[in-house]
Amino acid sequence: MLNRLMATLLLSWSLTGCAGNTNTNTNTNSGLADAYAGQFLIGTAVKSSTLMSALPDNNAPECREFNAFTAENAMKWQHVQPQPGAYSFVMADQLIQLAQRCDGQVIGHTLVWHQQTPAWVFEDDAGQAVSREVLLSRLREHIFTLVGRYKGQVRGWDVVNEALNDDGTLRDTPWRRIIGDDYIEYAFKYARQADPSAQLYYNDYNLYKAQKVAGAVRLVKQLARQDIHVDAVGMQGHYSLDYPALSDVEQSIIRLIEAGTNVAITELDVTVLPLPDNAHTGADITQNFTAHPVYDPYVEGLPPARQQLLADKYAALFSLFLNYAEHINRVTLWGTTDGDSWRNNWPIRGRTDYPLLLDRKGNPKAAYHGVVGLVNAAH
Ligand code: XIL
Repeated sequence: MLNRLMATLLLSWSLTGCAGNTNTNTNTNSGLADAYAGQFLIGTAVKSSTLMSALPDNNAPECREFNAFTAENAMKWQHVQPQPGAYSFVMADQLIQLAQRCDGQVIGHTLVWHQQTPAWVFEDDAGQAVSREVLLSRLREHIFTLVGRYKGQVRGWDVVNEALNDDGTLRDTPWRRIIGDDYIEYAFKYARQADPSAQLYYNDYNLYKAQKVAGAVRLVKQLARQDIHVDAVGMQGHYSLDYPALSDVEQSIIRLIEAGTNVAITELDVTVLPLPDNAHTGADITQNFTAHPVYDPYVEGLPPARQQLLADKYAALFSLFLNYAEHINRVTLWGTTDGDSWRNNWPIRGRTDYPLLLDRKGNPKAAYHGVVGLVNAAH
């Protein structure tokens, strides 16, 4: 009898011990993404240096907090196909690994963009612009190779990035100049053929502006007439404490839903730093202003009052997103910790910004707690 009791106790001890070990070794899902389960995915952009070294483990912020992973740069044309036909998938493969390890989704960013695309794509051997046919066939090959490689492993692709001007007209880019306005249609068709089950997105900044979102709506409707469904429009969300007005973001979300597409917030960050008067809103990566201490006031740390303003802004944004959660499939932060953020270098290089939810050590900030509090309060 005693022996039996001892055996049961030992067995239950070893099972608990085992389960305990398993728990510490797997994603315990106690982070941001877990709090928002059932609302929308919570993503992060993974920088190339992370993908070039040993992948973050299950306790690292990437795995702990997020369940959607976008390569900050690694899937862009200049990294995937820097030279004609010379593909490099080392970092992109790592992104897939990371998502598997962290039990998350992969988002492909991006197939067609006028930035971070090598000049050779648009030129012949003599450096002259190629014909429409040649560029279309390069586009097709690139999309089939990249999307085809990760078929079934990427939840969705930013098929076209930043094709619109702020007034909603089509941006003048080599893609449009050489192929014509229908380059967008072709890109979506190729992506659909290459992976019929991947979601397809149009992605842009400043979509809180009425004219620009009207342009996105026109695009979605025009593609629908060609039988191409845009699964979501990505509102990048490179914001500041001073803009945009929440009501503008809301109006744009409504416009997009009315147009028959869903919304993703794809590159969220909120700068707390002052900007030069002539800086544009949005995210034109070619903007580069001269550094001056006046634009970099928080090198030693963010004052509590400013920290609170950031928390308020994030809480307001996420409350809005929660109100439309049925149509918002994902909110991705553009980076993991404040130290990673591109906003430390854009639109002025070398500043100390605090635009994300985790501090430079990977610890939750006041804004993080506010965002988590919104869903905990609702449950
Ligand atoms: C940025 C990256 O964060 C930087 O590391 C890179 O130097 C430039 O591009 N819109 C986009 C993103 O769609 O791909 C950009 O990412 C930011 C603006």
